[in-house]
Amino acid sequence: MKLKELESCLQQVDTFEEPKILLEQYPTSPHIAACMLYTIHSTFDDIEGKLVADLGCGCGVLSIGAAMLDAGLCVGFDIDEDALDIFRRNAEEFEICNVDLVQCDLCCLEAEAYAKKFDTVIMNPPFGTKHNQGMDMKFLRAALTMAQTAVYSLHKTSTREHIQKKAKDWGVKMEVIAELRYDLPASYKFHKKKSVDIQVDFLRFSKT
Ligand SMILES: C[S@@+](CC[C@H](N)C(=O)[O-])C[C@H]1O[C@@H](n2cnc3c(N)ncnc32)[C@H](O)[C@@H]1O
Repeated sequence: MKLKELESCLQQVDTFEEPKILLEQYPTSPHIAACMLYTIHSTFDDIEGKLVADLGCGCGVLSIGAAMLDAGLCVGFDIDEDALDIFRRNAEEFEICNVDLVQCDLCCLEAEAYAKKFDTVIMNPPFGTKHNQGMDMKFLRAALTMAQTAVYSLHKTSTREHIQKKAKDWGVKMEVIAELRYDLPASYKFHKKKSVDIQVDFLRFSKT
């Protein structure tokens, strides 16, 4: 499947009907999702035939894209039943069978129970701002426990140094694959403008 074709399919994926601000439910745009997944697939060969986990899967745009790029299986994890209902509908509409869902709080998950159970972890975690401080790092910690090969994640560029330091402490190699502009709906920035662009890093973590 070509990049343009993937992006145009992902434009058909339904997203949050009533996004929950406390859960930081802002969807990954079809353009960013397609570029991320295509890079993971074509540059690193970390999707086709692999067991993939999508942490904070929401309505499933990353999982469904991974499934379209022939993941062996992609398992989405999210706390929110409403988002998972939309995910299920999306998967049915695309007639996708190589996805599965787990409803759980990733902060309380016994990540050890899933230790190294996945080849690849992909995620667009909560950025961990305001009421959710540290949530991005809790997701990253769980992801690194669950992945055998690599973790791909989006993080605010302003947190890059902090994450780099943590990665070093944890014995993990971190690469910045791309710098993106992420269109955050204004409601999440408590802002008067309709939307706000923020700088986001697309990161790859692998065991050193
Ligand atoms: C930024 S959204 C990303 C949604 C989706 N992956 C996407 O790319 O469009 C973050 C997701 O994390 C989920 N989430 C927030 N806190 C969580 C928690 N403690 N455990 C599991 N999922 C959580 C939210 O419900 C939301 O779907």
